[in-house]
Amino acid sequence: MNKEKVGRFYDVVWTEYVPEYEASEKHWALFYTPEEVSGKTILDAGCGTGIFSTIFAKNGAAMVTGIDISPGSLGTAESLKQRFGLPNARFEKQDMLHLPYSDASFDIVWAWGTVHHTTNPPAAITELMRTLKPGGSLFLAIYKKTKVTWIHEIIRKTLVRTPRWSWNFLAKVMAFFGTPIVFFFKKREKSRKGEKLSELILDWYFVPIRHYYTPEEIKAFLEERGYAIEKSLAHSGRFDSSSNFIYKSRKPL
Ligand SMILES: C[S@@+](CC[C@H](N)C(=O)[O-])C[C@H]1O[C@@H](n2cnc3c(N)ncnc32)[C@H](O)[C@@H]1O
Repeated sequence: MNKEKVGRFYDVVWTEYVPEYEASEKHWALFYTPEEVSGKTILDAGCGTGIFSTIFAKNGAAMVTGIDISPGSLGTAESLKQRFGLPNARFEKQDMLHLPYSDASFDIVWAWGTVHHTTNPPAAITELMRTLKPGGSLFLAIYKKTKVTWIHEIIRKTLVRTPRWSWNFLAKVMAFFGTPIVFFFKKREKSRKGEKLSELILDWYFVPIRHYYTPEEIKAFLEERGYAIEKSLAHSGRFDSSSNFIYKSRKPL
C-alpha cells in the first residue's frame, strides 16, 4: 500500500525531471572511474528517470539494470537510453525490497536517495547486499538525521494528509514565500537546474515515506556485516545538497 503510494508520488513528481547530465557525472566521478566500471554489471536501485544508469552505461559498464517502482520515471529512463543509444542499459519495474535477481548478481550496487523511501530501509539494504558479488561495491546516499529533522517531519506529516489535488497549489505557495530566503542564501542558482523550487518542495515535504539515519548508524550497519568503508561524505555535494550523506563500501570476499 505505502509502496504503491511512493510509486504514484514519483510518477507525478519526478517523471519529467532528469537531473543535469554534466553535474550528475561530475558528482558520480567523485566515487567511480571508467576503469572501475568498465565491463561490470551494475544495479541502479531506485533509478528514477535514469540519470545514473545512463552515466554508468556511458562509462563502459557491461550492463546496467535500473529498477524503480515508478512506471512514469522508468518511461523517461527508457527515453534517455534511446536518446543516448545505450544497448548496455535496461530498465525494469521492481521493488528493491524483493528483487528477482540471484545472489551475487552485480559488481556494483548504486542507490542514490532511495532506500530511505522504502517501508523498511534496513531490509532494502540487506536485499541490495544479497544481490552484490563478494568484493563488490555498494554505494548508498541516505537522508541524514539532524537536530531539525523533527521539524521537517512535522511539516511533511501534516502536508501529506492534505488532499492530493491541493499539493501543487500548496507547494507553489510555499515556493512563493520560500524563494526570497533561498535566494538570500544563494542556493537557488546552484541547486538542481531545471527544477522549480515548488518541485523541490513537493519532493521534500509531500513524499509519503521518508526515513532518516545518522551516518554512524549506517556505518555500524555496514561494518557489522563486514563491509569496508572506502569513501564517505558527510554531505552529498550533489546539487550542493546537505540532506544526504554517502558511503561507498566494499563487500567482504
Ligand atoms: C529521490 S528519487 C531518486 C532517483 C534517482 N536515484 C536519482 O538520484 O536521480 C527516489 C526513487 O526511489 C524510488 N523508490 C522508492 N521506493 C522504491 C522501492 N521499494 N523499490 C524501487 N524503487 C523505489 C522512487 O520511485 C524514486 O524514483
